Amino acid sequence: MERTFSIIKPDAVKRNLIGEILQRFERNGLRVVASKMIRLSREQAEGFYAEHKGRDFYEPLIEYMISAPVIVQVLEGEGAIAKNREIMGATDPSKAAEGTIRADFALSVRENSAHGSDSPESAAREIAYFFSTIEICG
Ligand code: TYD
Ligand code: MG
Repeated sequence: MERTFSIIKPDAVKRNLIGEILQRFERNGLRVVASKMIRLSREQAEGFYAEHKGRDFYEPLIEYMISAPVIVQVLEGEGAIAKNREIMGATDPSKAAEGTIRADFALSVRENSAHGSDSPESAAREIAYFFSTIEICG
């Protein structure tokens, strides 16, 4: 069983889409093994997206990520990392496959409703960034 890290982003939380998005994961065989709602601090958001520091979209991305609460969660399942990325769809919703979270719910490339780890290394780093081991129910 593989684990991945997921965020239901501010635009989705604000529009009451938590349940809609969770349902996509559950229907596709991913199990929530840790979850909490938090309002990210600027420092937390900057650390989380440190790989993008210096890019033109970085500052607006940080502003957006701290604009409302988010749900951070750990999802578990077979091939969870790739499966989550598949369920989410491409970063740019105009390029996301039909029926994906981003195609159906995202407002823009920035306000794209969900985050999912892109590799086993990212998943490990991102899970540890938000959860201690005793908060994860395997
Ligand atoms: P990235 O890690 O490339 O995408 P993903 O979330 O699919 O892994 O980028 C992180 C976030 O930064 C992305 O979800 C939305 C935002 N972003 C922009 O606002 N503009 C852009 O051109 C890119 C590439 C990303
Ligand atoms: Mg990414």
